[in-house]
Amino acid sequence: MRARLSADFERFRRGLPRDFATHVREAYGIDLAARYLGYPLPHPIGKGSGQLSLNPDQLETDRAAGVAFVVLKTLIAETATGERSMGAWALHETRMTVERRHADSREGWTVTWKGRGWDRSMDEYLGLVRVARDLTRAGEKGMVALPSVKYHLPRLHEPFADEEYAHTTAELARAWGPDELPIEKDFSPTLAGDSLADERGRILRWIAEIPERIRKAARHCARVQLKLMNARFDDDFQVDMLAAARDADGATVFNRLFDPDRKVAYGGWELSDRNLRVLDRARARGVPAGSLCGTGNICSGRVLVDYARRGCESVQLHTFFQLPLHEYPATVGSRSQRALHALVFHPADGVVAVMLELEERGLLHRRDGMLHFLDLPSCASTEPSSTS
Ligand SMILES: Cc1cc2nc3c(=O)[nH]c(=O)nc-3n(C[C@H](O)[C@H](O)[C@H](O)COP(=O)(O)O)c2cc1C
Repeated sequence: MRARLSADFERFRRGLPRDFATHVREAYGIDLAARYLGYPLPHPIGKGSGQLSLNPDQLETDRAAGVAFVVLKTLIAETATGERSMGAWALHETRMTVERRHADSREGWTVTWKGRGWDRSMDEYLGLVRVARDLTRAGEKGMVALPSVKYHLPRLHEPFADEEYAHTTAELARAWGPDELPIEKDFSPTLAGDSLADERGRILRWIAEIPERIRKAARHCARVQLKLMNARFDDDFQVDMLAAARDADGATVFNRLFDPDRKVAYGGWELSDRNLRVLDRARARGVPAGSLCGTGNICSGRVLVDYARRGCESVQLHTFFQLPLHEYPATVGSRSQRALHALVFHPADGVVAVMLELEERGLLHRRDGMLHFLDLPSCASTEPSSTS
């Protein structure tokens, strides 16, 4: 199997088949099937909301590459008359810098960017949502793709701006059509750096109340994934946030860290260390995981498996999809294809290699002759993550 993996890795440098999950099943007896917000996926690797999911061309490139799902850039909610309580997040900024970021002796990557949410009109966003809807409906030939929204967040004794929830959700639901509307609700890292998020009770209230508020606005025809931020409090509070999210249909854990001095969000190893540590702590405290999607410094199959062993049924990446081309081992294809190739087929650190390694160590077992990605929580780690 190891020899075969090295041969596949070499062969797929020159082009990864879109249906690589079928190949992995047939060649290695590994079932990569995964889930995001109740959607069955052929494998766990999706794209997080951001600058790489702003237009139909980017979506088509990801579909063609075989990315499992894509979360569209975050829309800033508005009322029927165009008022946006979170308008400060609709900032126009095009410049991004992909930079090295060191943590201890480990070298990682981060993207430095001063922008925030969607900075064009709601109508343009709804056009993109219709493209996402068609891709989602197309099943195997398409790809799951869904909107992300940032809605009004009140202070503790203030009411929610219901009109903003009602109008934006209704517009999205209309664009999506009769099926249940999937939404990721973003609590962004820049929010963590804002005075709005300096009170614990306020954050817990948002997390507990928002899922039902969105569902109500969609006439109970929506599924809500909360993308939790890394708040500026300790790990235990981060677990409290996860516990407060129990009424959501899923949680994405956890968006980037915030540097208050530079006033920018960042990722790299500090982000995955923190996220994995918090997921371990949640398990130790018996906080039910619910349906989780991991995010943060997923730069190899090994880190991906670290998230999966802690309960994540899929993952969403941003930074690893935007590295300089020469950083990927593949020599042909879009960045999305090259990233998938490294994450799945790398002979030492790809998902296939790491799952075979767990089997060899007696930690992961075959069922019906297959290793299953979704069984990874059964070999929950008592050892340090590969990132620490
Ligand atoms: C330039 C940039 C823009 C982003 N914009 C958004 C956004 O609009 N909404 C959101 O929910 N997350 C956003 N993110 C967060 C990513 O989706 C992702 O969750 C996060 O960067 C951690 O994953 P990574 O380490 O693979 O980048 C953004 C990230 C980057 C780097």
